[in-house]
Amino acid sequence: MQFKEINNNVFYAGLNDSNRVIFDELIPLEHGTSYNSYLIKGSNKTAVIDTMYPPFCDIYLQNFDKNGITNVDYIVANHGEQDHSGSIPSLLEKFPNAKVLTNQTCKQNLMEMLLINEDRIQVVSNNEEISLGDKTLRFILAPGVHWPDTMFTYLVEDKMLFTCDFLGSHLTFDDLYAKNDELLYSMAKRYYAEIMMPFAFVCRKYTSLIENLNPNYVLPSHGPLHDNPKFIIDCYKDWASETPKNLVLIPYVSMYGSTEEMVNYVDKRLNSLGINVICHDLVRDDLGDLAVGLVDAATIVVGAPMVLAGPHPIALNAVVLANALKPKAKFASVIGSYGWGGKLAETISSLFTTFKPEIIEPVIVKGKIKETEKNLLDNLVDSIAEKHKNIGLL
Ligand code: FEO
Repeated sequence: MQFKEINNNVFYAGLNDSNRVIFDELIPLEHGTSYNSYLIKGSNKTAVIDTMYPPFCDIYLQNFDKNGITNVDYIVANHGEQDHSGSIPSLLEKFPNAKVLTNQTCKQNLMEMLLINEDRIQVVSNNEEISLGDKTLRFILAPGVHWPDTMFTYLVEDKMLFTCDFLGSHLTFDDLYAKNDELLYSMAKRYYAEIMMPFAFVCRKYTSLIENLNPNYVLPSHGPLHDNPKFIIDCYKDWASETPKNLVLIPYVSMYGSTEEMVNYVDKRLNSLGINVICHDLVRDDLGDLAVGLVDAATIVVGAPMVLAGPHPIALNAVVLANALKPKAKFASVIGSYGWGGKLAETISSLFTTFKPEIIEPVIVKGKIKETEKNLLDNLVDSIAEKHKNIGLL
């Protein structure tokens, strides 16, 4: 494969992975992903920014030969996770004079996870610059987006910012640049939800830093490149903001339809009061869509029946995931149905530990909800509406 020139001796050297259907063995990929690597030819030295997911290492290395690259001086590791760093050992072997440039935290990760020798690594500090001749690499430490070892690399003269996972998307591409269309928006939001949302506070900080830096290009390590970075920067400003939207997310599972009936009732009533609702069937819908709903929701209402002596395990799984993603939701509740008892609402509510929403009185009934019990759901809906009104969403 011919490396594609982005601009002025900076090349795209990454690969698409169209066949990958799940990432981290957790969340499905709708459109595969890409592992982005970049080659920078300075007048004196050549640098590679991030490398390749190991299953693609052979093709990746062959491409250096096909493009006539006989020497690499620096391999910049912006982050130690192996979808980007996994081919560093092979690249070091191929180019025996090359040094890895990375921060102290990432150095430790590379030594422990990839067994890279310390003498092949040169530690860089925040804002340190290294010259390639007519081009200068500047390193910007960005711990927390999304690992403690993450950093960005800024190519000063070309105003190109290499952000590793930050501002990326799981999406293959043929043309280099993001089209900033609905597909890019939804894939980038899904990616933000799954990978960056737990670090929203840090994301806000680095989104602002990048906005002030005003790069011409933002070059992430997954998904299309941004030659109009304002689009993705504005998206992150919205997604990572502390203010939720007038949205209730109802992840639910229902065994005999009793819980689903309650979900549908609440959905309809909330809609009638001008509140947007996403009902997410935890058995049939894509887990990634649940994560996306969590980006904006002000309220989460978990719908679950009891299984044996506890909440349905599929609902528990979703609650554990939601808690790990640390959404901005301010309120939560539980609705559901039981056959012979157990602690449904208490168990689910106790799992919200990272974002501590205010719990609105749950509605748990035996079997099918009776006409005489529907006022309990009305009360729940009215409480949600009042809470949304109180924080200026309605
Ligand atoms: Fe794409 Fe955190 O690795």
